[in-house]
Amino acid sequence: MLDIPQPRPRKPPRPRLKVSDEARFFKGWLQRPLIMGAVSPSSRCLGRRMAGYVPDPRSFDADSRVLELGPGTGVVTQCLIERGVPESALVLVEYSREFCVLLRARFPKAHVIQGDAYDPGTAFGSHLHGRRLEAVVSSLPLFTKPDEKREQIVGGSLERIVPGAPFIQFSYALTLPVKPERVAARLETSPWIKRNLPPARVLVYRAA
Ligand SMILES: C[S@@+](CC[C@H](N)C(=O)[O-])C[C@H]1O[C@@H](n2cnc3c(N)ncnc32)[C@H](O)[C@@H]1O
Repeated sequence: MLDIPQPRPRKPPRPRLKVSDEARFFKGWLQRPLIMGAVSPSSRCLGRRMAGYVPDPRSFDADSRVLELGPGTGVVTQCLIERGVPESALVLVEYSREFCVLLRARFPKAHVIQGDAYDPGTAFGSHLHGRRLEAVVSSLPLFTKPDEKREQIVGGSLERIVPGAPFIQFSYALTLPVKPERVAARLETSPWIKRNLPPARVLVYRAA
């Protein structure tokens, strides 16, 4: 009998498990536009600029912590690690459960806390007791909250942080989300970062 080669059965196409961060973000924005505050993740260019304001991690000790508020899918988090911040020194406070699952998978050594960053008990809870808070890095959409809440988060952070350390925030707006004099701070601003959609700048508050 002739051994006729049979055509190889075609493999069924693999199901697409990988949802892009852009798609996750857009879905989040459709569900909760005021919480998300943006339709897509920040660019790495903006993330690197924010991370650049964190004090040199070579001066950190075992108790040093960097608090990130609103890490989303982790663009800025990754830039903090590339800056040299140890993953285990990162405390990430994120409102979205879905993003928290992603962040735990991507940064298994970081402390991921699901909750409301405006609640001091959540943002500055037991994970920071007895630790040195070296910087707070925030992507929270501050303009969706009243002045009082915005001032509380910036002012409250400056009270808990190592003296002179930065509260680092990005903003798309021409006006300031928090006036520095309202929180007894001095303010440094970066140039506009055009490689981000929309262009943004970094605001750095330090206790005056
Ligand atoms: C503009 S996105 C920035 C995300 C990411 N850091 C980036 O730059 O691509 C804002 C993020 O803050 C989170 N967020 C908004 N309000 C929050 C709150 N009250 N507590 C914790 N996270 C919050 C959102 O879920 C979202 O992930």
